[in-house]
Amino acid sequence: MALVIGAVTVVYTNLLVRRLSEREQQQIDLYAKALRFVINSESDDTNIQFASTEIIEANKTIPVIWADAEGTVLDYRNLDVPARLNEAERERLLHREIDEMRSQHPPIVVELGAGLRNYIYYKDSVILSQLRTYPLVQLAVIASLAVVAYFAFSYSRRAEQNRVWVGLAKETAHQLGTPLSSLMAWQSYMKDSPRFEGEPVVEELAKDIRRLEIITERFSNIGSVPVLKDEDIYQVAERAVDYLKVRVSRKVVFKVESLLPPGATARVNVPLLEWVIENVCKNAVDAMDGRGSITLVLRHGGRNHKQIALDITDTGKGIPKSKFETVFLPGYTTKKRGWGLGLALAKRIIENYHKGRLYVRWSEVGKGTTFRVLLNA
Ligand SMILES: Nc1ncnc2c1ncn2[C@@H]1O[C@H](COP(=O)(O)OP(=O)(O)OP(=O)(O)O)[C@@H](O)[C@H]1O
Ligand SMILES: [Mg+2]
Repeated sequence: MALVIGAVTVVYTNLLVRRLSEREQQQIDLYAKALRFVINSESDDTNIQFASTEIIEANKTIPVIWADAEGTVLDYRNLDVPARLNEAERERLLHREIDEMRSQHPPIVVELGAGLRNYIYYKDSVILSQLRTYPLVQLAVIASLAVVAYFAFSYSRRAEQNRVWVGLAKETAHQLGTPLSSLMAWQSYMKDSPRFEGEPVVEELAKDIRRLEIITERFSNIGSVPVLKDEDIYQVAERAVDYLKVRVSRKVVFKVESLLPPGATARVNVPLLEWVIENVCKNAVDAMDGRGSITLVLRHGGRNHKQIALDITDTGKGIPKSKFETVFLPGYTTKKRGWGLGLALAKRIIENYHKGRLYVRWSEVGKGTTFRVLLNA
């Protein structure tokens, strides 16, 4: 819409500029004729009076300079020459004007007879030159409007997405809470009951309850402002991997290495970071068809090498370079049963909640992939 309005006004202003310019041309021609007439007449009759006052003086808009063949200025009109200038300064200013005028229009020659000539230099009136630049001004206004609109729009879209994520997460945590507490009550009842003594079911139930608690904690953390703490990052990674290991095929070999000094910490929210590691590793497992190795390496990286980098490398099918950004879009999946939410969520957790970064650091189709998580120390 803005572009259409812009285009229409540009075309229209151009038309106006052309009309005004034609009119100024006619006016200046008339002015030159009148001048010629006045100069060449000897008597002082009413015609000359008329030409001089009505035509020459009537030009109140077009700047003109009347000069002889040597360039001596004989007269000028409609030019802003400050009164405080001395003779030489005024001369210089007028010659600068002459140069500018010459670049706009060729001067009008006034033949005085006997080979003598005068020149009339002129340039566009202020209104005309303002009108010439007007479309540029308008385009600048439209462009800045477009930029502002773009940012406002993407900001409001992001804000809306945030509300959806946060709202849904809060609601999920809330709804899980009730059955969870009743399950816990049942579990403690079974533990104390002689009927279930020595039964492995009680222990298994406890594990599943613990798992449900973790899930609830994750959702409640993402649904509020999560608390970040300095945590031993190697331990966090190792615990997350230990948890995953037993849940995937035994043909997937996990390794956790640290190039950081022992006990190095990063500011993280453990349940959320575990969720990220889990999502990235699950994708890795999927990408390897259940056979291969997943290596987690901790090292310094990022800004001034002051951040903590967690590189998660798999030996899977890889990601083509053109999809390095796309994989993080919500809804992007290449799996039959995928939602395309794992990486979108992981990126949110790292970038919004930890002020870190998550990106594909390296990948080659058929060889494998490295995702990098950058965290603040
Ligand atoms: N390690 C990887 N190797 C190869 N491709 C990957 C890897 N990780 C992610 N991808 C690609 O990125 C896509 C998006 O991943 P994402 O985790 O966001 O969704 P998903 O795993 O398909 O579904 P969901 O995680 O919601 O169950 C995957 O479908 C896959 O094509
Ligand atoms: Mg996934």
